[in-house]
Amino acid sequence: MKLAFSLFFFLVVFVLVTLHVHQVSGAANIWKTINVNLDGTGDFKTIKEAIDSVPENNNQWIRIHVSAGVYEEKVHTQQHRGFILLEGDGRENTVIEWWDYAGDPGNHDTVTSATFTSRADSFVAKNITFKNSAGAVGQAVAAMIQGNHSAFYGCGFIGLQDTLYDQYGLHYYKDCYIEGSADFICGNGQSIFEGRYNFCGIRMRWTRIRCITPGEVDEETKSGRAAEVY
Ligand SMILES: *[C@@H]1O[C@H](CO)[C@@H](O)[C@H](O)[C@H]1NC(C)=O
Ligand SMILES: *[C@@H]1O[C@H](CO)[C@@H](O)[C@H](O)[C@H]1NC(C)=O
Repeated sequence: MKLAFSLFFFLVVFVLVTLHVHQVSGAANIWKTINVNLDGTGDFKTIKEAIDSVPENNNQWIRIHVSAGVYEEKVHTQQHRGFILLEGDGRENTVIEWWDYAGDPGNHDTVTSATFTSRADSFVAKNITFKNSAGAVGQAVAAMIQGNHSAFYGCGFIGLQDTLYDQYGLHYYKDCYIEGSADFICGNGQSIFEGRYNFCGIRMRWTRIRCITPGEVDEETKSGRAAEVY
């Protein structure tokens, strides 16, 4: 019964997220587009400035288009800045990169080490890479996702330890490439992962994630939360 309910619940959420995304892909439903370009030809040169320009308590989809380039900055979508579609020029071409790690001289911890932090509900990212290039220094998060109802299409998550900190909320990851060496997907997010780039040959559906290390299937998943291993 509980399982049936969960399934139903996730289907509903899945449809909602998909609908959101279909809405955002139809130009008519995008309220406005903000362009970010390193060469100064856009509205802003940094993604941070573009996000900070979104009105608080925003409830209309705003596209932030980020032209190809490596953006060396930490990016944060605050809780009251939802309905953002962050769109790059392809995950190989548009990269957000920073290098904080837990216990570094700047006193970062796992959470604050994140290059990208998403706290807003209703967030979509497309064709962009989030990278933490701290190296083999322990926990160094590329993206921490704690907003609810968030979806990622064709995105890259690059790091070594704790790359994708899927902290909490209902999330959907499609065709995303996720790389790391230890616990590289962790958190309590209730997420669906599917698509072309399967990490470690594991495809997970509506599973609660613990920590995934290459070559391992997570214990929680093994205990019957419908992971597909192939
Ligand atoms: C964007 O991501 C989608 C997958 O969701 C992929 O099919 C498409 O080729 C990507 N576009 C670019 C420019 O990388
Ligand atoms: C996410 O949204 C669902 C409803 O769609 C809600 O039941 C759930 O409590 C929310 N989760 C968080 C972490 O806010």
